[in-house]
Amino acid sequence: MPGAGRAKDVVPGVFSRHALPYRDRVAGALSRHEARGRLAAVAALALERGDRIVDLGCGPGTLTFAVAETVGANGHVVGVDLADGMLRLARAGAPPNVSLARMDMERLGFQDARFDAAVCGHALQFCPDLACALTEMRRVLRPGGRFAVSLPGRTSPPDGLRLQELFADLLPPAPAMTDTEATAEATGSAARLQSALVNAGFDGVRTVEVDEPVTHRTPEEMVEKSLTWWELAWRLESLPAERHAGIRAEAVARLRARAGDGPFQIPGTNLVASGRRP
Ligand SMILES: C[S@@+](CC[C@H](N)C(=O)[O-])C[C@H]1O[C@@H](n2cnc3c(N)ncnc32)[C@H](O)[C@@H]1O
Repeated sequence: MPGAGRAKDVVPGVFSRHALPYRDRVAGALSRHEARGRLAAVAALALERGDRIVDLGCGPGTLTFAVAETVGANGHVVGVDLADGMLRLARAGAPPNVSLARMDMERLGFQDARFDAAVCGHALQFCPDLACALTEMRRVLRPGGRFAVSLPGRTSPPDGLRLQELFADLLPPAPAMTDTEATAEATGSAARLQSALVNAGFDGVRTVEVDEPVTHRTPEEMVEKSLTWWELAWRLESLPAERHAGIRAEAVARLRARAGDGPFQIPGTNLVASGRRP
């Protein structure tokens, strides 16, 4: 049974164990131009050739590799993450101008003002101490250095397509992670995220909510992709492996009965914020 409790007891482990399906789901979303929040974050950085970048909570290298291409051979990108499985995957695909380090974004082991820009795709929400993570991001940027972050926003699935209802009695409850509740609150709207960033001492902060609808072609695809989301992955792996196929099949059958054969479009949003160190 995987650990439960504080975010750092849960999150790196579950992302490590499910790094490959996570990477493939996000790569698919990027290739279909569905991952609009992450793409908007990279665009907001206005990167230049030769820039030195840090990617906070880099996962399998989703944004690391994209920004590495833009900054070119004279630039450099350091991806940091707490999940060894993610770092292994990222190292396996890393171009020469990328390095990777196991590091907590709340306690970065870098000297002050080391980077021209910082990017953070869908990872800040896992930090129990948001102010600390933002202060660290600010510290490692040079004066005038830019940052951009993306965060999941709201999802508004129509009747029959709500994952929490679909899996409610099929899986055990989600892990309790009370230490990220304050972060969830502080990043739960564009206005609150904007305040957190201004309070952390950034200038020129701009926070927007972008639409990020997700399409699933069939019930099978929706169940498979959804089970690579860290929370459902954790809930499924809490049960014996021999029950997994039956749960998948039951979820697909319920989805088909409730919503038909697909395709299903799930409306949703991301928050994207950018700014610079004074
Ligand atoms: C949803 S994934 C995002 C990965 C990648 N940035 C992307 O956009 O696909 C969140 C990542 O944040 C990492 N993470 C969570 N808390 C962290 C922390 N305190 N320090 C560093 N990484 C962290 C997780 O291990 C995971 O790889």
